[in-house]
Amino acid sequence: MSIIEVKRLNKIYKNNKGKETHALSNINISIKPSEFISIIGPSGCGKSTLLQIVAGLEEKTSGELNWNSEEGEIGYVFQDATLLPWKNVWDNAKFPLEMRKKDTIENLEKLERLLDFSGLADFKHAFPKELSGGMKQRVSIVRALSYDPDILLMDEPFGALDAMTRDKMNLELLRVWQETNKTVLFITHSISEAVFLSDRVIIMSPRPGRIQKVLDINLPRPRHIELKDTSLFIEYVKELRGLLQYE
Ligand SMILES: Nc1ncnc2c1ncn2[C@@H]1O[C@H](COP(=O)(O)OP(=O)(O)O)[C@@H](O)[C@H]1O
Ligand SMILES: [Mg+2]
Repeated sequence: MSIIEVKRLNKIYKNNKGKETHALSNINISIKPSEFISIIGPSGCGKSTLLQIVAGLEEKTSGELNWNSEEGEIGYVFQDATLLPWKNVWDNAKFPLEMRKKDTIENLEKLERLLDFSGLADFKHAFPKELSGGMKQRVSIVRALSYDPDILLMDEPFGALDAMTRDKMNLELLRVWQETNKTVLFITHSISEAVFLSDRVIIMSPRPGRIQKVLDINLPRPRHIELKDTSLFIEYVKELRGLLQYE
């Protein structure tokens, strides 16, 4: 049983002068509950468009999108952090909990731990304009995790982070994912990040975005950072790099 099913999906953008951009062509994906799937492909191949269509934030041109989940709440992390400029870090982070009337003491304590873990302990009262790009992105990740959504859609969430923080966030994401049985659809530019995190990696070809190949990653879990030094991991990285087409 799949939780999200995409069939023969096409997306053509039209601008107001009638110019068309064929962003996605014949996309077929079936996502099982609790799967961790990454999408990788060259810039402009339609990755963000696909995620937005899955989330219902963008309309498809043709094809099917089926959600086989009743209450399945979505957490969405955008490519650029989308914080409210007039709220400080703490108020931005707790906003989704407030909206859902889930701002219980227990959840707020959990939120505080997530912020501390993400290196934001000293910045709870800072405003977005006082933060670096990576810090803002960490706030939006914490915000998406705070209300424990069943499905996490993440658009290059760690792109702006330095290598060490990125490794740390990768491990934290895997821990949360494993602990809470989330389904994750994760866009990345990083070959090694895709291999490290995923059960399956979807490789997309240049525009119009098509699925070129789906690679199963049969590496043991739970995964630790040392996995990256093993020959099996390096083999997967090589295979994935070989499959990617550069424009
Ligand atoms: N709102 C939009 N209107 C028109 N064209 C768009 C829009 N969003 C994206 N595109 C175009 O669709 C293609 C795919 O974009 P996108 O999904 O952002 O790719 P990716 O995330 O893989 O870099 C690109 O050519 C982009 O210029
Ligand atoms: Mg994108």
